[in-house]
Amino acid sequence: MKKIIVSGSSGLVGSKLVASLRDRYQIIPWTSSTDITDAGAVEAAIAQAGGAEAMVHLAAYTNVNGAFEQTDDKTGPAWRINVDGTDNIARACAQHGIYLIHLSTAFVFDGQKTDPYVETDTPSPIEWYGRTKYEAEKVVLREQAQKGASVILRIDQPFSTTPFKKVDTLWRIINGLRENSLYPQFTNHFFGPTYIEDLIKGIDFALRAQPVGVYHASNGESWTDYDFALAVKEILQLPGEVKAGDLETYLRSSARPYQRNTALNCERWRSVSDFAPRTIREAIGKVEME
Ligand SMILES: NC(=O)c1ccc[n+]([C@@H]2O[C@H](COP(=O)([O-])OP(=O)(O)OC[C@H]3O[C@@H](n4cnc5c(N)ncnc54)[C@H](OP(=O)(O)O)[C@@H]3O)[C@@H](O)[C@H]2O)c1
Repeated sequence: MKKIIVSGSSGLVGSKLVASLRDRYQIIPWTSSTDITDAGAVEAAIAQAGGAEAMVHLAAYTNVNGAFEQTDDKTGPAWRINVDGTDNIARACAQHGIYLIHLSTAFVFDGQKTDPYVETDTPSPIEWYGRTKYEAEKVVLREQAQKGASVILRIDQPFSTTPFKKVDTLWRIINGLRENSLYPQFTNHFFGPTYIEDLIKGIDFALRAQPVGVYHASNGESWTDYDFALAVKEILQLPGEVKAGDLETYLRSSARPYQRNTALNCERWRSVSDFAPRTIREAIGKVEME
């Protein structure tokens, strides 16, 4: 079995990935006890792993509101984990000949485009989380241009059919409908939900085929929050009301800028990968309700 390191193995994506792929790969799981902001700790952990072929880098500071409070602070955890941590990992992987799969986000874009974003669109983040993730992409590309083999996979609002301690986009809706406490859902905000089980198939493909470059690895659909919530209610036959909300009204009272559109065009990823992702409606239908 190929030996792979998974950083962020205790997170939303990482925990599902480890559970799905542990029969096919020898996985060395890293959590924050291997602090990626410490270059020496990263180097030592890679040496201790001994002969890993690939690294799936999922460790990140993902609290977007928390990151916003750290705006311009390069000593804060968002910059230290997302930029410095990724820099340590990208350098070490390049040095040890380890193929790197780096997860990134649609938040690198400003959200002004009306169509889904393609890989050739120029990132222009509008808040600190997106900025740190864009800087992380740059350090991965810097090593890629020198000697490192790596791929950047951008996703948007990952969700799973099973609940996790960090509540994802789908389970926030399910919980809100069950309790009839769902806040109004924007009819004019667009996103491109990523079904984690399909993302894992994509990561498995990348581990086998080792593509290089930047890919949009979501499911390729564009949804409004409102339509997504209605679909969840209908497919899972949940009680509770879905009320319409207006992004423009919300933005007038929100300090943090919010991208109007983060949907991703995934045609490039589909043209190279070897699996057919499910539709979002099919994915919602896979939910296991207790
Ligand atoms: N969730 C989203 O909405 C979203 C959207 C787009 C892209 N992404 C990207 O997808 C990837 C996975 O996100 P996720 O939602 O699965 O993350 P998550 O649930 O927030 O988990 C973060 C992971 O990073 C680890 N970590 C935090 N600080 C660390 C440090 N200093 N050193 C080493 N590890 C550290 C955590 O370990 P502990 O458990 O030990 O703290 C945890 O395993 C990230 O690159 C993220 O930017 C996520």
